[in-house]
Amino acid sequence: MLPHHTLVLIGLLLASPVVVAQSPSENTVDVLHWWVSDGEKRSIDTIRHHIENQGMNWHDEAFAGSGTNRFSDILRQRVEAGNPPMASQVIGYDIHEWAKKDKLVILDDIASEQQWDEVIPFGIQHLSKYRDHWVAAPINAHSTNWMWVNHAQLTRLGLTKPDTWNDLLRMLDAAKSAQIIPIAIGHEAWEHTLLFESVAAGSEGAEFYRRVFMDLTLKPSDTEAFERIFQRMSTLRSYLDSGSGMRSWNQATDLVRSGHALLQVQGSWVNGEFSAHGLIPGQDYDCFHFPDTQGVVLFNSDQYILFKDHPATPETQSRFVSTLMSVSLQRDLNIATGAAPARVDVPKSGFNQCGRQAINDMRAANMRRTVMGSIAMGNANPSAVKNALYQVISDHLMARIDNAQAVNRLEHVIKRAMHSRETNHASVQ
Ligand code: GAL
Repeated sequence: MLPHHTLVLIGLLLASPVVVAQSPSENTVDVLHWWVSDGEKRSIDTIRHHIENQGMNWHDEAFAGSGTNRFSDILRQRVEAGNPPMASQVIGYDIHEWAKKDKLVILDDIASEQQWDEVIPFGIQHLSKYRDHWVAAPINAHSTNWMWVNHAQLTRLGLTKPDTWNDLLRMLDAAKSAQIIPIAIGHEAWEHTLLFESVAAGSEGAEFYRRVFMDLTLKPSDTEAFERIFQRMSTLRSYLDSGSGMRSWNQATDLVRSGHALLQVQGSWVNGEFSAHGLIPGQDYDCFHFPDTQGVVLFNSDQYILFKDHPATPETQSRFVSTLMSVSLQRDLNIATGAAPARVDVPKSGFNQCGRQAINDMRAANMRRTVMGSIAMGNANPSAVKNALYQVISDHLMARIDNAQAVNRLEHVIKRAMHSRETNHASVQ
C-alpha cells in the first residue's frame, strides 16, 4: 500500500492540472538507526508515534550494528554519495567527527528554548556539543556497568546480590556446577569491551578509569593495575561457553531470559529487551551493579544528528528535535529502552525498578562527577582509540594473546593516543 502522503499527492495531481507538488520530504522525518532487536523495535515505534502525533510523516531505515563500524560505514557511504538521511542515530565521539566535517545542523536555538544546558548531564553535553554549539540531541542515558540476572536461577542456586568480586566468582562457580552458562556474551568486540570496562572500573576505581581511559594519561604504577584487570578478564574467560563466538548480544540476552545462562554483563538496553518480552524486574530478572562499581555510571547516550545537506525544512527539523527532547517523549521512550532519560527532570512514574534505579544513579553520579563515558560504545574516546582498544581486549578475551602481551599492547595503544593528541594540539597552536 502507498503511504498516506503519496496518496494525497496523487489525489491532488489528479484533481488539478496545475499543482505545485510539495516534496514528500518537506513534512517527512527521514531517519537512519540501528534499533532492530525486539526491545529496540518497541523503542523506535515509540519515537514514531510521538512524531506522527505531531503531524509529521515518518520514514525510517534500520541497519543492525549497535552504533559501531558496521553501522557508521553505511551512514558514511550515504553521506558521501550525497544522499544523507535527515537524521541519524549516533553515539559518542562519532558526533564530533561529523561536526568537524561541517555536516551537521546546529541546534542551539532549540537547545536554548528548551534549556538543554540545565537538564542534560555534563558528561553527555560534552559529546552533544562541538566547539560550544549543540550539534546532537541526546534521547537517553544508558549505562553499561550492570549485570542482568535470571531470577529463578538465582533463587534456585541459593544466591543473592553479589557486592564484591569474590561474591561474583562464587555466583559463577555455582552456575558452573549446576551446568548452566555462568556468563552469556556475544561475539562482537564491543561486547567484550563492555565486560572489560566494568572489570576495569570495579578493580581500579573511578579516578583510574577517568585518568587512563578518558584523559589518556599514564602513571608507572598503571602496569600493575592493567595486570590485575587482565588477570580478572582471564578468570572470567573460564566462565564463558563455546557458543559465545557465534551469537549476537540479544541472543545472549535470550539465554538469560530462558534460564540457560545465569547472567549477562551489558548495557541497560537489556532491561528494554526483557520488558519487551513481558518480564518484570525483581520477579523474572534482577539488575545488579557490576561489583565495586556502585556509585559510578558508565554511560552510553543515544543521540540524533541532523544533516545540513538534507532537503527537510527548518520547521520539520526543529519540530523533530523538540519532540525528541520533550519530557513526554523521553519518558515514554525510556520506559521502553530500559535506560534513564537524557533529561534529569523526567518524572520516575511508570519506570520499572531497574529504570528508577538508573534514574537515581544518574542524578547522584552527575552531582559527584562519576558519570563517565563507556569505552565500548565510543563515549570515552574517538573511534580510532576505541577500535585499537577493541582489538587488544578481544584478542585477550578470545585467548589469542596472554596477560603480559595484553598489558603491553594496551599501554602501547594509550601511549600512541596520548602522543597523537599532543601532536594534534601542537599543530593547532
Ligand atoms: C547501543 C545503543 C543501545 C542499544 C545497543 C544494542 O549502541 O546505545 O540503545 O541499541 O546499542 O544494540
